[in-house]
Amino acid sequence: MVFKEVIVLSIFESLNSKEIFSVSKTDIEKAIEIPPQGKMGDYAFPCFSLASKMKNSPGQIAAELGKSIQHPYIKQVAVVGPYVNFFLNRQAVGKKIIEEILKKKAGYGDLSIGQGENITIDLSSPNIAKPFSMGHLRSTVIGNALANIVEKCGFTSVKINHLGDWGTQFGKLITAYKMWGDEERVKANPIQELLALYVRFHEEAEKDSKLEEEGRHWFKKLEDGDEEALYLWKWFRTVSLKEFGRIYQLLGVEFDSYHGEAFYNDKMEAVIKELEEKNLLTESDGAMVVRLDECNLPPCLIKKSDGATLYATRDLAAALYRKREYHFAKSFYVVGGEQALHFKQLFLVLKKMGYTWANELYHIPFGMMLKDGKKMSTRKGKIVLLEEVLHDAIKAARDAIESRNPNLENKDEIAQMVGVGAVIFHDLKNDRLNDIEFSLEAMLTFEGETGPYLQYTYARACSLLRKSHVPNSHTSLYEVFEDDKAWSIIFLLSRFEEVIASAFFEFNPSRIAKYLLDLSQLFNKYYGAVKILEENDGLVARLKLVKATSIVIREGLRLLGIGTPERM
Ligand code: ARG
Repeated sequence: MVFKEVIVLSIFESLNSKEIFSVSKTDIEKAIEIPPQGKMGDYAFPCFSLASKMKNSPGQIAAELGKSIQHPYIKQVAVVGPYVNFFLNRQAVGKKIIEEILKKKAGYGDLSIGQGENITIDLSSPNIAKPFSMGHLRSTVIGNALANIVEKCGFTSVKINHLGDWGTQFGKLITAYKMWGDEERVKANPIQELLALYVRFHEEAEKDSKLEEEGRHWFKKLEDGDEEALYLWKWFRTVSLKEFGRIYQLLGVEFDSYHGEAFYNDKMEAVIKELEEKNLLTESDGAMVVRLDECNLPPCLIKKSDGATLYATRDLAAALYRKREYHFAKSFYVVGGEQALHFKQLFLVLKKMGYTWANELYHIPFGMMLKDGKKMSTRKGKIVLLEEVLHDAIKAARDAIESRNPNLENKDEIAQMVGVGAVIFHDLKNDRLNDIEFSLEAMLTFEGETGPYLQYTYARACSLLRKSHVPNSHTSLYEVFEDDKAWSIIFLLSRFEEVIASAFFEFNPSRIAKYLLDLSQLFNKYYGAVKILEENDGLVARLKLVKATSIVIREGLRLLGIGTPERM
């Protein structure tokens, strides 16, 4: 239950009773504020916007509204100048919210913005035979959280890994492999070896121009379905995927589809034909393009002069395929900001083709991962670093657990949850578009704004609940919810839905991350100030509050893709 709605409705009804019908519920909802200090009320309604509609001063309107509002969940209405401040009935609201959370458990906060419609999410999408970059990590983590959020809002998510598994680079790679490659070495260390071959190709090609031609020749063969070329390409793809698979497993991310660029090879001709029929293709220096002058954008290249198709052509085919296959209501592309132009062009071309659903395509960009202020690269020499980074984080978490709680069971399992959770949270607590400074040390501390801090708060709540003994005769007295510290937790718990909705509408998981930090801080303050386990009439109510808080922290972290150990 969202108590803001109670306030909105009371104001609305009060206005209606005064025969003021020009103010909508949405107007009221938009105007409602949460005062910076609790002593000013839980919600406030400034009356400025009503002044002209009601031909009266804001102060006068506030005074009148203040007199006429009554509701069992509202304890007191205070008028301060042009503001109407609302104090909720702490016991009634607390009981209602806590009971709701305990009943719905992980289902608390479920929304029905969607009615099961599909939302496709293009995420991760690394390039075969190349290292998994920090950008791909960000896309994976943000995309996965968005998929969870979308589901929480009543949609069905379809997670698509649009692998970069086609393009002229594969002709070069085949050439290099045939000249200098070694099967055993590739098998032992696929991406590292393939990358080394690719780098060597470029070095040697500077000296020997015939190599480039050989590379093109092999790509042509690949496109024509030559058996050897296809065999090698498939092999490169399989071994790369196996390596990426290890990263996905560590991160706990799964996909509904691995249809990458190559999947669209036989689906582009139809797109090109359609563009032709719709008179959208123009020739430019022998290439075929869709002009986008009217939007002040460079043309979208569809087909090169040698007949080769491009990244954009494949994305056009992919968008059409996804619409046909999944009938998506919305389609997200979680891809770095460098590709903003590409997606603008893509969406515009689809609009020009007459597809109104192109208005529901969203490029969701994100900032860079920095190390000491510089763009972080995953190549150390020629070694893939991301897996190492994750293992470092797990190792550091393991060490921390060892020193804090040496007798813990399942230390390895918990260390993985904590280490990986730290990396994920460090990403998601930031606004998506911000650049992030990567620091293992900062992300793994148990205090401050970190994943381990949240997990630790959850574990602390679990431990309280394990330790508690509730004698049968105890009645539950909700008076303990009058306490400011308890109330601040309850009030925040009541706002979980709002936060999920804004994370959804803004494509911004950091809304949830920040919410969880606030909630944990309030909970830890409460824990420090109140004897939760003291046996008196408030015990049951306090334990319920602890349980409800633990449910929301756990569910919030789940939405972000982070696990919650019960002990740590
Ligand atoms: N493979 C691309 C890259 O690494 C990202 C693909 C994003 N998705 C898409 N549909 N274009 O840059």
